[in-house]
Amino acid sequence: MKGVILAGGLGTRLRPLTSITNKHLLPVYDRPMIYYPIQTLVQAGINDIMLVTGGNAAGDFLRLLGNGEEFGLKHINYTYQKREGGIAEALGLCRHFVGQDKVVVMLGDNILDGSIKKAIGDFQKQEFGAKIFLKTVANPREYGVAEVKGRLVKNIVEKPKNPKSNYAVIGIYMYDSQVWDILKTLKPSGRGELEITDVNNAFIKKGQMTYEVIKGWWGDAGSSIEDLWAVNQFIGQRARNKK
Ligand code: G1P
Repeated sequence: MKGVILAGGLGTRLRPLTSITNKHLLPVYDRPMIYYPIQTLVQAGINDIMLVTGGNAAGDFLRLLGNGEEFGLKHINYTYQKREGGIAEALGLCRHFVGQDKVVVMLGDNILDGSIKKAIGDFQKQEFGAKIFLKTVANPREYGVAEVKGRLVKNIVEKPKNPKSNYAVIGIYMYDSQVWDILKTLKPSGRGELEITDVNNAFIKKGQMTYEVIKGWWGDAGSSIEDLWAVNQFIGQRARNKK
C-alpha cells in the first residue's frame, strides 16, 4: 500500500505565520508539523510515500526531509501542486505513483496520538472500496461530518450548519484504485476546489465506505491559530510526561 501526504496550500487561515513559509513547516512543539504525519505512516508500515506540496516554500521540504533518513526511509517522493485546487486535485497528481495499489492519504496538518497500523491492516483485507476515520468532537461544524449505519458510512456533509452527528471525518483516507475514476467525475465546489468529501461520498453511494472511530487524541493543527496552539500544547505536554 502506498502513502500520500498532502502539504500544499497557502495556509491563509494562519497568516501572517504562513505569509513566508508553508503551514506544514510551522513548529509543533519541538519539530516541524510535517514530521508527525510522516511518523504516523512509517509507524503503520507505509514506507513508499509521496509528499505533495505547493504554494510557499515548496523547496524547503526537500532541504528539511531529504530522503527521509530521519524516519528510517530510503527515499521520499515529491510532487508539486501548481494552484490551490483542493485536496482531491492534489491526490490526482499521485495517480502515476500509486498505480493499481491501494493508497492511504493523510493531510499534513492532521496529528494523531495513537497508531493507525491495525486499521491499515483491516483495509488491506477489505476487498474493495474505501475506509475513513471518525472522531467524536464538540464542534462538528468545523469539519466534514459523517452519519453512519452499521459498519458503513451513510453520508458526509462538509462543514454543515446543522450537523447530524458529532463524528468529524479526520484527514486520513484509504482508497482502492476506483478513486482515480471518481476523481475524473468531480466538479469544483463553491470555493473552487475539488473536495475530498465528494470523493468519499462517491464511495458511500457505492456502499463501499467503512469507518473506524478513533479513541485516542486527534488534532487538526492547520485550521486556525487556536487549533495550532491547542495541538502544540497537547504535544508539548505529552513530551514532558515522557521525560
Ligand atoms: C479538511 C476536510 C474536512 C476534514 C478536515 C480534517 O478540512 O475538508 O472534511 O474534516 O480536513 O482535518 P480543512 O481543514 O481543509 O478545512
